[in-house]
Order: sequence, then structure tokens, then C-alpha cells
Amino acid sequence: MKKIQLPTDKAHRILAPRIAYIVTTVDKLGRVNAGSFSNLTSVSTDPERLVLAVYKAWDTIRNIRATREFVVNVPSKNLLREVWICGDKYAGNPIPPGIDELKIAGLTEISSKKVRPPRVAECPMHLECKVVWIKNVGDHYLILGDIVSASYTHGVFDQDFIQIISKTLPLMEISRDFFTSPGKVVTVGRKEVRKIVNQELEKMNIKVSKKLKIYKMLRWSEE
Ligand SMILES: Cc1cc2nc3c(=O)[nH]c(=O)nc-3n(C[C@H](O)[C@H](O)[C@H](O)COP(=O)(O)O)c2cc1C
Repeated sequence: MKKIQLPTDKAHRILAPRIAYIVTTVDKLGRVNAGSFSNLTSVSTDPERLVLAVYKAWDTIRNIRATREFVVNVPSKNLLREVWICGDKYAGNPIPPGIDELKIAGLTEISSKKVRPPRVAECPMHLECKVVWIKNVGDHYLILGDIVSASYTHGVFDQDFIQIISKTLPLMEISRDFFTSPGKVVTVGRKEVRKIVNQELEKMNIKVSKKLKIYKMLRWSEE
């Protein structure tokens, strides 16, 4: 397999596709702002926490530093144009600070449960966050957020809280103005994989206790 070097300044394009989110914030005066973000991921489940990377020039980071709150809204693929409107500066259609992108995009604000920034009604899922810390990581700030409330539109999760992708239809950014959306759900043949792992371990003469409870041994601490 021949490997080709990607220009280093394009390295982040390997980390694609990523889900596109609409992040809402408010400024000190309570004025709503919305931006589109894909550099966002879960980093802890106990407690539930996520990180978000925001370019230093954006209104979103000014608001987050001032108010320490934000809401992550998850749009479906039918909201592609609205996501592009909320990505105004990146898309080359800058909207001045203090102007609510949601209004320009024709999206509806509904109040959040635990924080001041609103949820976006048309998005099927929402995470309300409070800032734990903000770190300078380059041309972006990295924000660690505590998820203080999570909500969704009726019908997009099954009874085991598995997301029904055919209902949420997440929109994913590839690069620039190219996007995709997951088409089908696949599942792992769990028993088959266990058999392969056990066979390989046996060949190596390694015995693994079925009672190994690694999760119980884990502890988390803040540094
Ligand atoms: C799909 C998409 C994903 C984006 N992801 C990010 C991101 O992860 N971090 C970032 O700083 N900007 C990102 N942007 C750019 C911002 O959304 C854009 O510049 C926006 O105007 C910032 O809004 P604000 O100044 O109101 O905060 C993205 C844009 C789009 C369209």
C-alpha cells in the first residue's frame, strides 16, 4: 500500500467527517449568538463532560469567556443551509457581533433548562453546558464543559437510549462546504469477535479471567 504525504497544514482534514453542531451563547447583555462547530467531542462520562475548540476571533469564545455557559444543539441534515448561515465568518458571509444568527437563519429559540443560552427548537438534541476550564491551545481555545442538562425531541431515542440515526440524521462536515450524513446502521458480530479474540489469546497461551471487572477499578480525579 503506497502512502502519500498530506501537507501538514491540512492534517486536520484526516479527522473527518465530524458532526456539525450549532452552539448558542449569550453575551454580557444577554444577546443571543449562534455559531457552527465540529471540533467537539465527549471526554468523560462520569461526570458527563465534553470539549469544544473555538477559534480566538469568534463571538462564541468572547461570550463563553464572559458568561461561562453554552448550549450544543445537534442539527439534522435538512438544516445544512442554516448550519452554513451560523458558520457565517468561515463561510465568508460575516454577521456582526450582537446580531443573532438564529434570526437570520429562521431558526426558533426555546429557553434552556439550566443555562441562559437558548436551545434551537428545530434541532433534535441539546446539551446545556457550564465551563470547567478554558485553555489556550494554539489559534483556538479549548473549552471543557460540564453537561448540566441533556434533552431531545420525542421519538429520536429508543427505550435503551440508543439514538435512532434514521430520525436524527446527523450532518457531518468533511471540509470546506462539503458535508455528509450517515446512511445506514451496522452492528458488530459480538460473539464472533469474542471467539476470534479468545482463539488468538489461546494461541499466545494467555488466560483472561471472565470475571475481570476493569471498569470497577477505574477512578477519576481532577489534576
Ligand atoms: C460546519 C462548520 C463547522 C465549523 N467548526 C468550527 C469549529 O469547530 N471551531 C471553530 O472555531 N470554528 C468553526 N467553524 C467556523 C464558525 O462557525 C464560524 O466562523 C462562525 O462565524 C463563528 O461564529 P461566531 O463569531 O458568531 O462565534 C465551523 C463552521 C462550519 C460551517
